[in-house]
Amino acid sequence: MTTPRFSTEDVTVVFFLGGPGSGKGTQSANLVESYGFVHLSAGDLLRAEQERAGSQYGDMIREYIREGKIVPMEVTVALLSNAMADSLASAPPPAGTKARFLIDGFPRKLDQAVFFEATVCPSELVLFLDCPEDVMESRLLKRGETSGRADDNAESIRKRFKTFVETSMPVVEDFRAKDKVVEVKADTSVKEVYAKIKAGIEKRGIEAR
Ligand code: ADP
Ligand code: C5P
Ligand code: MG
Repeated sequence: MTTPRFSTEDVTVVFFLGGPGSGKGTQSANLVESYGFVHLSAGDLLRAEQERAGSQYGDMIREYIREGKIVPMEVTVALLSNAMADSLASAPPPAGTKARFLIDGFPRKLDQAVFFEATVCPSELVLFLDCPEDVMESRLLKRGETSGRADDNAESIRKRFKTFVETSMPVVEDFRAKDKVVEVKADTSVKEVYAKIKAGIEKRGIEAR
């Protein structure tokens, strides 16, 4: 038996899932503001690693991202685990409170979920944004006009949707079977979606701070 690197006595982990373009990054900013979450986006960490001088994974990550495939979990889990440790060291939570991590875009595959919970920290909750593909597609094409992302184009978007349905939805279903999912319909305004997120997580005991 491995012991996770972080204890749930010190740390609360909320996984944030939803298809590409469902609004995870957008809503994360709101949650950081009102609930004191530290936001860690797996995609952002992978893009930073891809650009890091001397990374042995740069080319591999670039290829996986363009193809909308899931990067081998060891890489992503190490990036997340180290980012959590860095955050706890540089900006510890207020005395007497647990650190809160909002882990955006992870776990996107069942093996990542199992490995992270065994070696890094078990999750408290999974927040899931449910959004129709046509809405996500138009948001991503619009975002692609300015994002500079190599995967915000029609071809990569199609591949990312396929990966989401085939590989990532089973993760949501697995957590749902464990009654850990707060699900919110995400095809309305940013404000309306956020109101539903707040209601959903507060029902599960996560209060503003
Ligand atoms: P994700 O991180 O889930 O891929 P983002 O938060 O980056 O999604 O949102 C994708 C795009 O859609 C962004 O350009 C964002 O501004 C926009 N967006 C996010 N939420 C909404 C919403 N509720 N209504 C309209 N546009 C939205
Ligand atoms: O979440 P985001 O849209 O930023 O992710 C971009 C890409 O990063 C994904 O399409 C995938 O290729 C990669 N990724 C991954 N594993 C994760 C999160 C992201 O491989 N857990
Ligand atoms: Mg995002």
